[in-house]
Amino acid sequence: MQHTDRPYIRSYQTAQKCLAKPSMLAPSLSTYLTQVQRSANVNLAPLIAYTEQMLSFMSGSMHKEIKKQLVAPLGSENLSKYEKVTGNVGNKVLVALSEKKADIDLVTDIEEPLFLGIVQQVFGFVPGNLATFLRDVDISLKVAEPVQSVKTLLKIQDALTRIIGDITAQLNLPNKPGLLYDIYNTLRSGTQPHSTEQIAATIAILLIASRTTSETISHIVIKNSELSVSIRKKFSNPEWVSTHFQSFVRFCASTEFLTRVASAEIKVDDVTLKADEAVFIHVPSTNRDQRHHRSCEYAQLDEGAPERHLAFGAGVHRCPGQYLAQQLIVSFIPKLYAQFPAIFIEPGSVKFKSSLLARRVSSARVVLLGAENGIR
Ligand code: HEM
Repeated sequence: MQHTDRPYIRSYQTAQKCLAKPSMLAPSLSTYLTQVQRSANVNLAPLIAYTEQMLSFMSGSMHKEIKKQLVAPLGSENLSKYEKVTGNVGNKVLVALSEKKADIDLVTDIEEPLFLGIVQQVFGFVPGNLATFLRDVDISLKVAEPVQSVKTLLKIQDALTRIIGDITAQLNLPNKPGLLYDIYNTLRSGTQPHSTEQIAATIAILLIASRTTSETISHIVIKNSELSVSIRKKFSNPEWVSTHFQSFVRFCASTEFLTRVASAEIKVDDVTLKADEAVFIHVPSTNRDQRHHRSCEYAQLDEGAPERHLAFGAGVHRCPGQYLAQQLIVSFIPKLYAQFPAIFIEPGSVKFKSSLLARRVSSARVVLLGAENGIR
């Protein structure tokens, strides 16, 4: 993959066409990691093996088969089993918030407990140590970033080894209730992947990527801070939130760039790529493209019917976790704004993790104002 002179796509139509082209592939990390392994004389064999089982870096028939197998366990019908549990995860976070009242941080008090709640209660995965798991997920998310030092690649490999090791150990125990086992049993009955460790690597990317949901919730809370309390009243209405779920994600998804590599010379509208050349699609721009979208401002998100967008991607790599994301967002957001209509983010307090592909909040001060503080 070439990293110099990268073309960027900001047009919705061009991005759609690019993502639909069979010759535009997700970047395969194997070749790149094998080169690094040779030139730096380090052992990246485990990392290479893990990424070969991860949907984000796969192409072709194996990718297609796993995606097909995931439709049932991650579909709305199967997930309806976990609706109540998802609701309870949100309730627990809200109780903790009302008890704490002050010194609230968006990431440690809302985002992380929501993510851990879904991982433990819905997936039914019990990490060895919660703090280590959170750190390992953060490091592992860097696996998709285009340029990494050898030191970081080794850290990613260690983090994934711990996560995949814990998942494998749990899968070797008798089945318990949870999405982890629903997915495992479905994948085990197919022809790909084969061993429990390979299945664990496929499940690991699902667990890690599901972090995007709580990250997106953080962005909704930050964006809502710019709106007046009276406008935010509608965010406490479950029906309104459910109707406008796609619009929230269009404006607030934490995903910034999607990467594709041309497998042959290709021209998409005004973008020409040589074979092996990478292209970066800037998702927030495509989702606010005035040539395509009627409303491009967050405050207008309920003006008219929800519009098509690329926040969940498009083409063969489209997100398989959309219904799970929807279940949490649609259940949590109305309860959050019903209980805390005047939840704000302190201006200037938002800090971000380092990432080239996503906007991941690392901390932001949450202020819970009451009527006595003269809420807007
Ligand atoms: C609001 C929440 C979410 C957003 C905005 C989101 C966004 C995306 C996007 C844009 C892609 C396409 C990436 C590409 O084309 O390169 C993607 C893929 C993926 N997502 Fe999500 N996602 C969310 C939640 C989830 C959840 C809950 C899961 C796990 C259950 C998940 C698992 C995955 C996986 C495994 C892929 C790779 C699929 C493939 O390459 O075929 N995501 N997601």
